[in-house]
Amino acid sequence: MKIFIDTANLDQIKEAESLGILDGVTTNPSLMAKEGISGKEAIRNHYLQIAKMVEGDVSAEVFSEKFEDMVKEGEELASIKSNIVVKIPCTKDGIKAIKALKDKGIRTNCTLIFNIGQAMLAAKAGASYVSPFIGRLDDIGDDGVALIGDIVAIFKNYNVPTLVLAASIRNNLHLIQCMQVGADVATAPLAQILGLLKHPLTESGLKTFMEDASKMK
Ligand code: G3P
Repeated sequence: MKIFIDTANLDQIKEAESLGILDGVTTNPSLMAKEGISGKEAIRNHYLQIAKMVEGDVSAEVFSEKFEDMVKEGEELASIKSNIVVKIPCTKDGIKAIKALKDKGIRTNCTLIFNIGQAMLAAKAGASYVSPFIGRLDDIGDDGVALIGDIVAIFKNYNVPTLVLAASIRNNLHLIQCMQVGADVATAPLAQILGLLKHPLTESGLKTFMEDASKMK
């Protein structure tokens, strides 16, 4: 499973990249706003900085909702760097925009997916990725991981090439469960990625090893 970092924070991307395990980055308008970026040039420059920091794909989301605007914005975003994937919301206009961008050779990530039907339509339109949101489904008492598993199985049934990118990951268990159900990619904040390394027995074991090692210096 590929691991993407879900942030627009350059320091966090740098830290994750330095681990040598980072496969890509996802952003969204809320994550960009958190960085205090404003203005078209600053936004474009920020995406360029992120896209230069990693070899893998970087999802940059459109800020518009209408078909024509999304296509125009998508073309602009895709022109920033070849590893930029245009993130498009799963709406009627969004599905049309995914198809139009696909016809222009531009890769897309269909976001805000909460059911199988949305994932299937996005895939049929030619999305490179679909992003079902695990945590937000769990928040309303649904089962986000189960949706990932269902979409993975259905895409396999029909040899759908679209990759399933699990988003809205809130804890380490979500990441493990994504692997168990066969997600192609999971995107998570830095804390959740680093959280995979944490185990109290690793910490206590290392403490003992270091104490014993110091006796031999
Ligand atoms: O990539 C989408 C993701 O950032 C949403 O996460 O935690 O806001 O539901 P969250």
